[in-house]
Amino acid sequence: MREQGTALAELEREGTVVERPDEQPVLRFEHVTVSFDEIRALDDVSFQVYAGESRVILGAAGSGKTVLLKTALGLIKPDRGRVWVFGQDITEMPEEELFHIRARIGVLFQEGGLFDSLTIEENVGYPLENQPSLRCPPEERRRRVVEALRFVELEHTLDKYPSELSGGMRRRVGIARAIVAEPELVLYDSPTAGLDPITAYTIIALIVKERDLRNITTIMVTHRYQDAHFLANFRWDPQSGRLAPAPPEATRTRFLVLREGRLVFEGTRAELEAASDPYVRKFIRREQ
Ligand SMILES: Nc1ncnc2c1ncn2[C@@H]1O[C@H](COP(=O)(O)OP(=O)(O)O)[C@@H](O)[C@H]1O
Ligand SMILES: [Mg+2]
Repeated sequence: MREQGTALAELEREGTVVERPDEQPVLRFEHVTVSFDEIRALDDVSFQVYAGESRVILGAAGSGKTVLLKTALGLIKPDRGRVWVFGQDITEMPEEELFHIRARIGVLFQEGGLFDSLTIEENVGYPLENQPSLRCPPEERRRRVVEALRFVELEHTLDKYPSELSGGMRRRVGIARAIVAEPELVLYDSPTAGLDPITAYTIIALIVKERDLRNITTIMVTHRYQDAHFLANFRWDPQSGRLAPAPPEATRTRFLVLREGRLVFEGTRAELEAASDPYVRKFIRREQ
């Protein structure tokens, strides 16, 4: 067992720290600082993510996780530093150009963010109706909404309202909306927060399935180490229709830890588990 663990750690180190000088990152932060009055929400943050890779973002409440995702979407502008998405510098990009970038990014916000007054069909179809570069005819929209809802096994809820669904189902609808436009990059903000472990597993399995079926670049903020574990060490197995253990180099997952806006750790799961910083170690406690 011990030997196997060591071998895996080595694979992981080899597998995910590969330099790809000829490839363009899907997302790149270079010395990004974001301030709100006297608060530094992000402080000199640099990292990059290549196509098909995954990142898990860990950090205490208020450490800058959500601000990082919003900055990646161009919803928040950095005071200093630059942000590139799909190879384009979005730091000072005008809003109408940002639409085209955002159309290629799926987002699941922390609160799920469904509109209570819209049906599930209208909620999932919202990006296809309201994002200028995604707009499509109603029949096409319905086809894509049904397909996205089928992916999360909720195609029977089209005419329902969010209040008629359980918390886990609403989160699945949020995933359907995040992926309805077949984005290349998906950002998940605490997708399992407030869910019981079994429902949380269903959500993570969907995130991994979406990642692996379409080679989606995936960035996930989470408080649960268990979520991170599934993202880093499992792949979707189409044969069995379930998650199956995978060598770490197959999932290309790295971990980022934020503390008061600063990136205090970046590395593989093996490196995270070997970290000595007590703040970083707080996030690797397994749930019972
Ligand atoms: N729009 C805003 N105005 C003022 N302060 C903000 C705003 N958004 C975030 N902050 C502050 O920035 C810091 C990081 O916030 P956030 O990224 O939401 O943390 P979390 O890691 O919990 O997601 C916090 O101190 C928060 O209060
Ligand atoms: Mg947050």
